[in-house]
Amino acid sequence: MAANRKILLAKRPVGMITEDCFSIVEEPMPEPGEGEAILKVEYFSLDPTIRGWLRDEPSYLPPVGIGDVVRSAGVGRVVASNNDALPVGSAMSGLTGWQEYAVVGGPNGVLAQPVADGIDLVDAVSVFGVTGITAYFGVTDVGNLAAGETMVVSGAAGAVGSVAGQIGKILGAHVIGIAGSDDKCAWVVDDLGFDACINYKTQDVAKALHEACPNGVDVYFDNVGGEILDAALTMMNMFGRIVACGMISQYNDTEPPPGPRNLNRIVVQRLRMQGFIILDYLMRFQEAIDQLGTWAGEGKLQNRVEMVEGLENTPRAINMLFTGGNTGKLVVRV
Ligand SMILES: NC(=O)c1ccc[n+]([C@@H]2O[C@H](COP(=O)([O-])OP(=O)(O)OC[C@H]3O[C@@H](n4cnc5c(N)ncnc54)[C@H](OP(=O)(O)O)[C@@H]3O)[C@@H](O)[C@H]2O)c1
Repeated sequence: MAANRKILLAKRPVGMITEDCFSIVEEPMPEPGEGEAILKVEYFSLDPTIRGWLRDEPSYLPPVGIGDVVRSAGVGRVVASNNDALPVGSAMSGLTGWQEYAVVGGPNGVLAQPVADGIDLVDAVSVFGVTGITAYFGVTDVGNLAAGETMVVSGAAGAVGSVAGQIGKILGAHVIGIAGSDDKCAWVVDDLGFDACINYKTQDVAKALHEACPNGVDVYFDNVGGEILDAALTMMNMFGRIVACGMISQYNDTEPPPGPRNLNRIVVQRLRMQGFIILDYLMRFQEAIDQLGTWAGEGKLQNRVEMVEGLENTPRAINMLFTGGNTGKLVVRV
């Protein structure tokens, strides 16, 4: 019988994640119970939100327990089934966790949904997964971006940011990225069509935004929070929208972060700042996947993946999200 390697949470990280926070165990592959199927996980997605799930704090999902498989989105194919709706060979994506085999279906299976025919599994865990869907609803629904407006995107060369910026261009906006290296900035401008990109590690962001956005900023798509949010606040036009998608600059903090200084801009400029969690849009996922698929088919949307080889390298790879080691979507080939 095949073995199932799993990565469990051994202890909670303090600050940056260290490899000793996890243990790898090997168990027999699970057998499908009544109504269940066994998914062989082929890829899983490394997302900054996993860092939040490792904290023992209330959030939009419960914390991962000590000794539990680390929660993560993943995709794979059914290899054994007691469920006619989940035949062997069918592709599913869902919260598989960091393991080689996951139980789907039945009352104890992980939350999962079928992957439509013809969709590549890597695309299903990236541009047509949480990443692309977050970017889509963040820009269109939360940001309500219109043609001719200016949108600034932080984390611009990351998974969500790179797709959000491309959607902004498709919708006819002026799009400025903010990213952590010259190579990343060159990629989003030269390959993805952003109008400009600011390297926040070498440039004065407030000054550079001023130069890159002569008409001010209508939508700020915030993936990072902190000082970059503060700088963006000073640039917002009247009735502008701040899409609070994530605040990765604070995810490893061990002390409460300093407060933002420029919140009075929200009053003066009548801004709307709205947080959202992609699960809010669960019932509309297909709408996003269809639209993203159309744009990709028309050659308007690129998907770049940074692939990590092997489940055992996952604990080392996750910190790439916090050091800027990834360009595009960080994925593990199990
Ligand atoms: N609301 C939702 O439902 C939802 C869903 C998915 C993701 N998110 C959020 O979206 C954001 C991006 O997620 P992702 O999956 O697309 O990750 P990602 O952008 O592919 O990877 C994270 C990137 O963040 C940048 N970064 C790390 N530390 C930073 C810091 N201190 N200041 C500025 N930038 C920093 C790094 O790029 P640089 O080299 O540019 O620094 C890194 O590559 C995260 O905040 C995440 O929590 C939210």
